Amino acid sequence: MINEILCSFNTFNYVLVVIVFLVFGYRPPWWSRKAVDWLRKEVQDIPGPLTLPVLGTRWVFSCGGYSFNKIHEFYVDMHEKYGPIVKEEALFNIPVISVFEKEDIEKVMKSSGKYPIRPPTEAIAVYRKSRPDRYTSTGLVNEQGLVWHHLRTSLTSDLTSPKTISGFLPQVDEIAEDWCCLLRQQRLGDGTILDLEDVAGRLGLETSCALVLGRRLGFLLPGGESELARKLADAIHKNFIAIRDTYFGLPIWKFLQTTAYKNLAESEDTIYKLALELIQTADEATQESAIFQSVLKADIDDKEKTAAIVDFIAAGIHTLKNSLVFLLYLVAKHPESQQKILEDESKSYLKACIMETFRILPTANCLARVTEEDLELSGYKVNAGSVLICQTGVACKNEKYFANANEFRPERWLDDEKHSTAGNATFLVTPFGVGRRICPGKRFIEHVLPIILESTVRNFEIEVVKPMELQFEFLLSPKGPTSMIFRDRG
Ligand code: HEM
Repeated sequence: MINEILCSFNTFNYVLVVIVFLVFGYRPPWWSRKAVDWLRKEVQDIPGPLTLPVLGTRWVFSCGGYSFNKIHEFYVDMHEKYGPIVKEEALFNIPVISVFEKEDIEKVMKSSGKYPIRPPTEAIAVYRKSRPDRYTSTGLVNEQGLVWHHLRTSLTSDLTSPKTISGFLPQVDEIAEDWCCLLRQQRLGDGTILDLEDVAGRLGLETSCALVLGRRLGFLLPGGESELARKLADAIHKNFIAIRDTYFGLPIWKFLQTTAYKNLAESEDTIYKLALELIQTADEATQESAIFQSVLKADIDDKEKTAAIVDFIAAGIHTLKNSLVFLLYLVAKHPESQQKILEDESKSYLKACIMETFRILPTANCLARVTEEDLELSGYKVNAGSVLICQTGVACKNEKYFANANEFRPERWLDDEKHSTAGNATFLVTPFGVGRRICPGKRFIEHVLPIILESTVRNFEIEVVKPMELQFEFLLSPKGPTSMIFRDRG
C-alpha cells in the first residue's frame, strides 16, 4: 500500500511538498536549534594568534617579535590582521578577548552589573594576602564584589565631591605657580628641559600628596627632589613595570619567586613604608584635609585606611605625569593651538586640547572587565565570566569614528562638530574608565589639568625637540627622556 502511494508521487509532487514545508514555516525543534547553533560562532572560533596547548598565545612575546614594552603596537597589529574581535590565550588556554568596535565596547561596559569586575592584578593580590599584618583586603583597586563595594562607598564619596574639589583649587593654583618656577629653574641656557618626565613626576607626586594628605610637601621647590620623593617615584615606577610583567607574562611567579614578583614585593613594601612615613608625620594641614579625614572616619578597618591612602597616592602619580607629558607634547607640536589657548577666554579650546590628547594618547589605553552575562560580540557568543579587553586606545584612532583620526585637531570637540564628536566618543574616549568602577580621581584631575596647561602656556612658548616614542609600562608612557624647549613668553 505504502509502495503504491510512494510510486504515485512524481518529482513534481516531492518539490511541491518541500516548498509548502518551507513557505508555511513549520520547523521541527531539531531544525531551529541546529540552525542557530550552526550560525552562532563561539569563543573558540574567534580569530587570533596561533595557540599552543597549555602555553596559549603568550609565546608571541618571547619568540613572536613582540615585547611587553610595545604591547600597544601588538594590539594595533592584531586588529589589522584579525579584525574587530581577537582572541589571545593565557596559560592553560584561558581565553582573553579583545574588542575594538564601539558597539562591542559599549555592550561590555553596559553589562558590567552592580559590582563590575576588573580583572585584578593577581600578583598584588597574592602579595597583599601574604601580609595580613598590613592588609585586610587587597584594596579598592583590586577587590571585587561586596568588599569592593564597601570600600568604594566608604572611601570615595569625599574624593569625588564638588565641595572637596573646589576647596582644593587654591592649592592647585599654587602648585601651578611652583611648577612654572621649577620649569624655569630646570632649563638649560636655550630653554631646553632635558627630562620632562622627571619634572612632571614631581608635579604628579606633589599634587597627589597635596590632594590626599592635604599638605604641600615641597617636591616642586628648587632642590625639592628629596630622598623621599625620589624613592617614592622610583618605587611606583618599578611597581607598574612589575605589574605589567606579572600580568602579561607567563605566571611562573606563582611557583617561583621571579625577578618580576620580587620587584613587585619590594616596590609594594617601599611604597607602603614611605606612605606610612607621610601619614605618621601628618601635621595640622593633613588633619584638616577633607580626603584624609574622610578616610580616617570611614567605617573600615584601620589597616584598610592606610592601604587606601597608599593606593590613592600611587594611583595619581604616574597617571598624572604621563597625561601631562602627552598633553604638553601635543600642544608643543602645534604652536597654533598654544595661540588659541591664549586667545580663548571661555577656556573651551583649552579643554578641547585635553580631550584631544586623551583621544590620541590615553595613558590608560584599554579597559578590562570580566563579563557578568552572555554577550554577542561581533557575531560571536561570549559566555559570562570571560575576560574582555576593550581596546579603546585603538578604537579612538579608527577613521570610522573620528575623521583624520591620527591628527591632533582640538576643533573637532568644538562648535558644529562638538555633538557628533561627543556622540562617537562615548565609551571610546574614556581616559578614566566607565561605570561604577570609574576612576574616583577623575573630577579632581579634570580640574587640575586645565589649570596646569593654562599657566604653562601663559608662561612659555613650548617646542618639541624630537618625536616622542611610546612604551607600555602597564600604562601607556612616553619613552623618555623627553626633551622640550620652554621659552619665556614675551
Ligand atoms: C590623569 C590621571 C588619572 C587617570 C588617567 C586615571 C585613570 C584611571 C582608570 C582608567 C581607572 C580604571 C577605571 C575602570 O576600570 O573603569 C582608574 C581607577 C582608579 N583610579 Fe585613577 N586615574 C587618574 C588619577 C587618579 C587619582 C589622582 C586617584 C586618587 C586620588 C586615582 C585613583 C584611582 C582608584 C582608587 C581607582 C580604582 C577604582 C575602583 O576600582 O573602584 N586615580 N583610574
